[in-house]
Amino acid sequence: MDLYGKDFIVSQEWTKSQLDELLELAARMKRDRYSSRWTSILEHRTFFMFFYNPSVRTRQSFECAATELGGHAQFLEPKAMRLKTATTAGETIEDAAKVMARYACGLGIRILEDKVPHYGAGNELLREYAQWADIPILNMADDRFHPCQGMADVMGWAEWYGEGPGRPSYENLKGKNFLLTWASGALARSWCSVQEALLVASRFGMNVTISRPEGYDLDPEVYAWTHANCEANGRDFCVVDDPETGYDGAHVVYSRNWVTAGAYQDGEFQKKAEVEKAMAYPGWTTTAGRMARTDNAIFTHPMPIDRGSEVTDEVASGPRSAVYDVAENRLHVQKAVMALTMGNL
Ligand code: CP
Repeated sequence: MDLYGKDFIVSQEWTKSQLDELLELAARMKRDRYSSRWTSILEHRTFFMFFYNPSVRTRQSFECAATELGGHAQFLEPKAMRLKTATTAGETIEDAAKVMARYACGLGIRILEDKVPHYGAGNELLREYAQWADIPILNMADDRFHPCQGMADVMGWAEWYGEGPGRPSYENLKGKNFLLTWASGALARSWCSVQEALLVASRFGMNVTISRPEGYDLDPEVYAWTHANCEANGRDFCVVDDPETGYDGAHVVYSRNWVTAGAYQDGEFQKKAEVEKAMAYPGWTTTAGRMARTDNAIFTHPMPIDRGSEVTDEVASGPRSAVYDVAENRLHVQKAVMALTMGNL
């Protein structure tokens, strides 16, 4: 399968076979991390990373990934360029994208909800770069999706239900129960990671339950895709509105705070108002007591974790926590994405 030159903006736009190929390579790269099979794949090539928002995992795992493939990852941020915006004169995306494509083998972009005037505008920006640049555009988290996180998530879950690190069983995830629960907190968090998790869990044959207070539904298109994925796999998709019952029989529990659909007003992200709204729902926290209702579930989170609000320390650092495995997998899946889309394989 030839993935060379392909953008990775949301997992739903890749076929299941393409995702399987990516994950299979990621597992081989994890088992044999520094093999000479991988260390020249990006030799002499540069991957640009364009960050509108901060990061721990994404920046560092992409930099390590490029190094381990024999290439280099270069950090860029908007203030280091002179780009045209809605309020300032400057260079168009068309010109910037076409020039960057003359230098680099690929371009990753992170742009989250607080840097855009309305929901979806970050994803639109990535697609505009993809329109003009004839190199792969990799989504490093926009306001809708976080596909590298989604791949790292499912690889981690499949390792826990498989034979351990680097030995995932995606077959064993089929028919397992995935709970995505909204969580309390004052961070007014993005939809990107949780939406990607819904797409991936449903795509890989899990039953999906979303638990959230009234008013905290996610993107209707993502619900429709998740529903369609579940239906195609003969699985269930349901939404509940209490912080307890979704845990019953769950195998994978994912808790995370996120904002409402009313997070923008007058072209601005209303963080303070979103934090105030969330304060009306204390106690949506993953605790050991709630985990006891599950079928010995693993706990997963894309990090950074809001400990004490989204999940207790006891669960986040407990024996069934997959959080560091998933974080590690960012490196392996991104090496695989870069190798397949821009590498010399
Ligand atoms: N999960 C994730 O994308 O982490 P960072 O925001 O630290 O990159």
